[in-house]
Amino acid sequence: MKATAKAHTNIALIKYWGKRNERLILPTNSSLSLTLDGFYTTTSVAFHEEFLVDSFMLNDVPVTGEAFNRVTLFLDLLRNLSGKANLFAEVKSTNEVPTAAGFASSASGFAALAAASSRAIGLELSDEELSRLTRQGSGSACRSIYGGFVEWEMGTRSDGLDSHAISVAPASHWDVRVAAVVLSATEKKVSSRAGMKRTVETSPFYQGWLDSIPTDLREIKAAINAKDFEKTGSIAEANCLKMHATTLGANPPFTYWHDTTLRVMQTVQEMRSNGIPAYFTIDAGPNVKVLYLPENEERVKERLQEVPGVNSVTLSKPGPGVTYL
Ligand code: ADP
Ligand code: DP6
Ligand code: CO
Repeated sequence: MKATAKAHTNIALIKYWGKRNERLILPTNSSLSLTLDGFYTTTSVAFHEEFLVDSFMLNDVPVTGEAFNRVTLFLDLLRNLSGKANLFAEVKSTNEVPTAAGFASSASGFAALAAASSRAIGLELSDEELSRLTRQGSGSACRSIYGGFVEWEMGTRSDGLDSHAISVAPASHWDVRVAAVVLSATEKKVSSRAGMKRTVETSPFYQGWLDSIPTDLREIKAAINAKDFEKTGSIAEANCLKMHATTLGANPPFTYWHDTTLRVMQTVQEMRSNGIPAYFTIDAGPNVKVLYLPENEERVKERLQEVPGVNSVTLSKPGPGVTYL
């Protein structure tokens, strides 16, 4: 009863930001992402009748506290689904992505955990079923089941049966590149989960965010389909700014940005005025992802590395969905 799976992170071009049901992780808006080749998690899960508790090692370190609880609660879902309530698991995971720094480690982490644990416990799930299950570990993770461009359809049902990801276009559709600009790989102060909850509950800007989503989604899907880089990039950049604006309206207010975050954003806008098409997007953390086309790779990388405060720049292509090792 053992399985190993690999899942890649994804970067949201239209953000998921808010839940309508926290237990089932049902979102208040649909979202759209690109799965990234460069960042991933590999997770092995072994269930054994002799284990009396679950254990979770991340990057060779035993995990306790909140991160451990999230894993055992997720394993409870599998125990219920498979009818094997008395089985406990040994989980070993490696993140080839900074943990809890706004690089979507929860996305690759829970997608790999869902795939490995469902196989290990003997469930044979379709991609759609796996995405629905993965959603309950971390919302953004349901998109990492698929490669390339992926939409998470929010659904309307209260049981969440229609809330899962679908493929919009495979990785081979369009070679859009992403430069991950690392300023800080340390854990953020406000988790994605806590940040979106506070925003939904207190930010007067939240309704404006929700109202803008259907148009953003419709237009970006048309732009991706037409491989229109300017349109795709500008919609993604504006959507990111709207999401981050909602956090400034929260009570207490907060922002994920650092001084260097702003410097990178300005550099990207400067590149555009110098004729290099590049657009930024930022998840719940200070680090910035820059979208660009392959022919501009050298210039984009060089320019980003020069920004004071930037630690590293990692380049990524569109990546695949979940695989089993
Ligand atoms: P991020 O931007 O990295 O997704 P989040 O605040 O959304 O930040 O989630 C970080 C949390 O995701 C961690 O604190 C941990 O609970 C969980 N996580 C990260 N990596 C893994 C993994 N490989 N396996 C299981 N859970 C993980
Ligand atoms: C800003 O999926 O990490 O990255 O569902 O509570 O685990 P939970 O949150 P998470 O939130 C991601 C928020 C985001 C936008 C996105 O990835 O769509
Ligand atoms: Co996350």
